[in-house]
Amino acid sequence: MTTTGLQAIKFDKENITLEILDQLLLPYSTTYIPIESINDAFEAIKSMKVRGAPAIAIVGVFSVVVDTHRYLNSKEESLRDKSIQDLISSIDYLITSRPTAVNLSNALNDIKSILTKSYKAQTLVNKSVLNDIYDYSVALYEDDLSNNFKLGDNGLNYITETLKSQNFKGPFSIMTICNTGSLATSGHGTALGIIRTVHEKLSKSCGQDFWLDHVYPLETRPYNQGAKLTTFELDYEKIPFTLICDNMASSLISSLAKEKVVKNLSAPVKFIIVGADRIVENGDTANKIGTFQLSVIANAFNHAFQDESKKIKFIVAAPRTTIDLKTKTGDDIIIEERPPNELTTLKGPILSNNSIGDKVTVGISTPNISVWNPSFDVTPHNLIDSIVTEELPVHTKNPKGEFDLSSN
Ligand code: MRU
Repeated sequence: MTTTGLQAIKFDKENITLEILDQLLLPYSTTYIPIESINDAFEAIKSMKVRGAPAIAIVGVFSVVVDTHRYLNSKEESLRDKSIQDLISSIDYLITSRPTAVNLSNALNDIKSILTKSYKAQTLVNKSVLNDIYDYSVALYEDDLSNNFKLGDNGLNYITETLKSQNFKGPFSIMTICNTGSLATSGHGTALGIIRTVHEKLSKSCGQDFWLDHVYPLETRPYNQGAKLTTFELDYEKIPFTLICDNMASSLISSLAKEKVVKNLSAPVKFIIVGADRIVENGDTANKIGTFQLSVIANAFNHAFQDESKKIKFIVAAPRTTIDLKTKTGDDIIIEERPPNELTTLKGPILSNNSIGDKVTVGISTPNISVWNPSFDVTPHNLIDSIVTEELPVHTKNPKGEFDLSSN
């Protein structure tokens, strides 16, 4: 399966090389940079050149492949004598680059178990080790891509069934946060993958009583993945959208629900679709900071709406690899805290006279102040309506309000 959308990760299977789209330069420049080692991957993940839970995992495993290939082909004596134990230590270091996203640790732990099951700790890294890591990594990449398309179809069916059961008619809108598209995965995307599929299959001409009219991506402070990356993808795909700041969500939902016209648009927000960095056993979900407040907003509106057809569904979309059944509740999820300068400064190119100039950093707060910058928050399962993966059925809660994510 191939993707026609933007490609965040380019892995050359013949020459065993890896390049990633430097997401720090988007949307002004599409520049690919080489990843030649585990250290390169650590730096790229930590500095957000690549981000998004599935994409991080794929870059992580491919970096182990290119690192091992480079080591085996190196003529330098200093690079000789790497044992399985040495490789495992480098993998453990790589796991620490983004602690909240479970996909990275799951995938790298899988590689570690392949290594420990097949080789002794002191065995020197050899061609057969490379083949084993290569096979696992290519399969992970290809599975992620095909799973995203299945996830998109499952989301489309869930949305169609929901609207039919609510007897909803007419145009509707979808709200989303962060970036969960081709740039955050092997291609197509998760939450944005559903939006892509719905845009393609549930258009005004599709013959249904309802259709997707508009998408509202949130800016996603403080790192602005929504403003920089999701708008870039929606624009690229020609999906109609309007960017809003995170603190405009309630106001927009309310105006549209009251049938007010907002910038010539009036289709109500019927779905809030978000990605996930870790979904634990009870369904509590870690995702980009700001996700939790969207679920609270949806819940508050749903309590006020008398009419079933007005209700908003809060959907989490993620591949099964994001489900972490070893962690019982959201209280046990480690939330990554990022540096204060992500709040106190903004980086971007100087724009003047329609030209894109040098990238600069500008201050936007009082210098040297106390800052709290958690990168993720946890949405409790009681505020989530459904969890859509590549498998069926879509997870919804039982009458006691519980998800059963153990298997499909
Ligand atoms: O900090 P980021 O940009 O890696 O955060 C990404 C998100 O929160 C995404 O919504 C999540 O990883 C799912 S990506 C398909």
